[in-house]
Amino acid sequence: MNIGSVQIPNPYVLAPLAGVSETAFRMLCKENGAGLLYTQMIDADVISTKTRNGVAEFLNIQEMEHPVSVQLIGGEKQTLVKAVHAVEEFADIIDLNVGCIEEDYVARCTGSALLSKPELLEPLLSAMVSATSKPVTAKIRIGSDPQHINGVAVAQLVEDCGVQALCVHGRTASQQYAGRVNWTIMRQIKERLSIPVIANGDVTSLRKAQDLMKNTGCDGAMIGREAMHRPWVFNPKPVDMKQQILRYIDLYERYSNRRSVVECADHVFWMLRDYPASQEKKNVHLIGTIPRLRRFVLRLEEPAGPAESADG
Ligand SMILES: Cc1cc2nc3c(=O)[nH]c(=O)nc-3n(C[C@H](O)[C@H](O)[C@H](O)COP(=O)(O)O)c2cc1C
Repeated sequence: MNIGSVQIPNPYVLAPLAGVSETAFRMLCKENGAGLLYTQMIDADVISTKTRNGVAEFLNIQEMEHPVSVQLIGGEKQTLVKAVHAVEEFADIIDLNVGCIEEDYVARCTGSALLSKPELLEPLLSAMVSATSKPVTAKIRIGSDPQHINGVAVAQLVEDCGVQALCVHGRTASQQYAGRVNWTIMRQIKERLSIPVIANGDVTSLRKAQDLMKNTGCDGAMIGREAMHRPWVFNPKPVDMKQQILRYIDLYERYSNRRSVVECADHVFWMLRDYPASQEKKNVHLIGTIPRLRRFVLRLEEPAGPAESADG
């Protein structure tokens, strides 16, 4: 898959995950083989007021992560253009969030609110495309609610604005994360557009990613929540879970500029999902330093049963 002039080495894409997609996490997904990384969504209001150094520190994108898509969220044209200018030197691709369901953002007419407002979405995307030589993309849902499934029309509008790829989460905004992902609409979107389309929703293994691409005809498959628990989901080979978690801690110590034990422990806790429930596991947030977090992981017993595989 190519997005504009950016070559994406394989079709497996790490989703933007607010509160999750920090540097060490993205790096671990990349080490395991992810073809394209998204940052978490970044508020255009916030990033557009930062200095160049402030933006570099905030994004904290490492050389090995590229290609990286920096995702913006916003609803005001001038601010989004400023945000595009602020991030473009660090990004390979710049994405607009057209799917966020958080009330604060929807109330400000950003994220998924734009799905039902083509008259607002069109000038935002056109302005972003004109503001940069980097490829601009958009991430949408299939509509606002089951009575307003307009994903194909929104996708067409997005392409007409000069956007170079589209990602579609196959649910409506009102579905949030529940219910089935709609493969039919994703397929219709792919059939209508000539730009690459990345399908998203409920992928928990590379096998399921391939099924999603086969059933929708889409060019790529994006993985969100499963990657939060298993950043090694991108790895076609079985891995040692404990080594992966220790590697995460190493990457966090070395590359995070926040150095927050709580943030590091959050990730360890998420990655322990497939370990048996125990008091010890629940206590991970009581651990006060990163070296102690590492010792805690070293002492854990591996979960019983066969090693996790990419098709698990
Ligand atoms: C904790 C969390 C944070 C998310 N943050 C973002 C975000 O910043 N931008 C965005 O476009 N989608 C965001 N999403 C949606 C995911 O990118 C993805 O579309 C959704 O989780 C469906 O994919 P999945 O079934 O693989 O998780 C978020 C989802 C979760 C669970």
